Amino acid sequence: MNIILLGPPGAGKGTQARKLVDGRNMIQLSTGDMLRDARSSGTAMGQKVAAIMDAGELVTDEIVIGLIEEKLEGDHGGGFIFDGFPRTLEQADALNDILAKHDASLSHVVAMEVNDKALVQRITARSTCGNCGEVYNDITKPIPADEKCVNCGGSDFKRRADDNEESLRTRLMEYYKKTSPLIGYYHAKGQLVRVPGLGEIDDVAAGIADVLDG
Ligand code: AP5
Repeated sequence: MNIILLGPPGAGKGTQARKLVDGRNMIQLSTGDMLRDARSSGTAMGQKVAAIMDAGELVTDEIVIGLIEEKLEGDHGGGFIFDGFPRTLEQADALNDILAKHDASLSHVVAMEVNDKALVQRITARSTCGNCGEVYNDITKPIPADEKCVNCGGSDFKRRADDNEESLRTRLMEYYKKTSPLIGYYHAKGQLVRVPGLGEIDDVAAGIADVLDG
């Protein structure tokens, strides 16, 4: 089963993808994580995209399509969760072609619906374990009092450079201009399912499970 988690910044795509990895042996393909890894390991591509990401703009289709193409050559596990990809119509067309090359297809495109006010609150309160990537939130899922990650015990927590109000405004604009047309695109293909993203994390997960198992 291959799925897309589609939604604006802060919709909870990464949070829900990690639950699906744990519960269903699926493989999370987050282009945001791949690009951040490229930055921190100092590759030429990572250096090229750093300023674009910090400003909240989209990196080129060519780069992210190349990243996804590479990953689909490997283990397919219980299926892929595309998290943050595709983000443009060009990327969506490319994904169709890449999947077809592997005799694979999409089973669901899950559109996670969250209003802008909640998105801003979530993003500005987010932090992440620098060791394993577990996501925290100052309000809804605070870092434990002993300052050890619940997943790996690490104690190096980070805030993303693009998690500030100015970059977030650009990220939201990029989403509405370039990514939200994918909702119509996948609706027309009969693959879109809308899931409320505003409840408790476990309730949102249950809504997604209903879609995948339904
Ligand atoms: P990316 O890393 O993909 O960022 P994003 O889409 O902006 O999404 P986020 O990671 O910010 O949010 P999320 O939906 O995963 O939410 P999360 O689960 O963390 O991309 C970063 C940049 O890379 C882009 O701006 C672009 O430059 C580049 N890029 C990446 N992919 C690209 C592509 N395909 N094409 C071009 N450029 C690309 O949750 C957020 C917070 O909310 C957390 O604190 C969490 O704990 C909390 N939370 C989650 N769910 C709930 C809930 N139900 N209730 C309360 N709190 C919740």
